[in-house]
Amino acid sequence: MHRKNIVVIGASGHGKVVADILSQMPGYRVVGFIDAFIKKGTVCFGDLTVLGGEQDLPELMAAHQITGGIVGIGDNWIRSQVVAKIQAIAPSFEFINAIHPSAVISDTANIGHGNVIAANAVINTNANIGDHCIVNTAACIDHDNHMDSYASVAPRVVTGGNVAIGAYTAVSIGAVVKHGISIGEQSIVGAGAVVLKPVTSFSIWYGVPARKMGERKAGDKYL
Ligand SMILES: CC(C)(COP(=O)(O)OP(=O)(O)OC[C@H]1O[C@@H](n2cnc3c(N)ncnc32)[C@H](O)[C@@H]1OP(=O)(O)O)[C@@H](O)C(=O)NCCC(=O)NCCS
Repeated sequence: MHRKNIVVIGASGHGKVVADILSQMPGYRVVGFIDAFIKKGTVCFGDLTVLGGEQDLPELMAAHQITGGIVGIGDNWIRSQVVAKIQAIAPSFEFINAIHPSAVISDTANIGHGNVIAANAVINTNANIGDHCIVNTAACIDHDNHMDSYASVAPRVVTGGNVAIGAYTAVSIGAVVKHGISIGEQSIVGAGAVVLKPVTSFSIWYGVPARKMGERKAGDKYL
């Protein structure tokens, strides 16, 4: 089988998980990591090393016949900035999905590009996942959900049916979201929250039941 040569952008914890997922996808060969903050040549996963920074991509793509890859950065805002940078530096770079073989995805779900669907994740009937989202380990996105681009759900998040998660919003580890709830853009749902009411945009909610605990701006750190 012909395998496409690809890279993972971001070589920290999440990037390594993404490389691990891709190493189990028969259509791809990961040739290394791109990371501007880790020294070139550093070994990060198996025998894969950092090949250079984003600015080196055009040269690296030519040298290694790299067709594309994925941004493996957990922070939703930083991930979007890096995607924009790559689109400007290397317009032909193809953003792929990293989907673990154990993930269960309905044939009726729609999934964009640049997404990470980790081990044991479930994406149910008619769900819509935008671009550059993360559905992390054992998260369960139920029927008719909608995740806007650059949204993320952490490990073991569970949503009921017809939940909407806005762009750049992070639903943190183990949170549960009741069916039919809308979560706005650029918000954070904290670890272990039980969300029973709609979540406004640009806000921080946590607790059982979840309540609004603060406000935030685009790019505020949350990890
Ligand atoms: C919601 C969150 C972003 C808040 O972070 P923060 O603003 O830095 O909050 P702090 O740590 O300063 O905590 C403030 C208070 O709220 C409480 N608190 C924070 N997060 C909470 C949560 N999820 N549930 C209940 N209480 C929480 C703290 O215990 C603290 O209480 P105290 O003042 O009585 O000690 C963070 O707690 C969180 O859930 N992060 C997500 C982590 C995650 O999912 N990681 C995995 C990614 S793969």
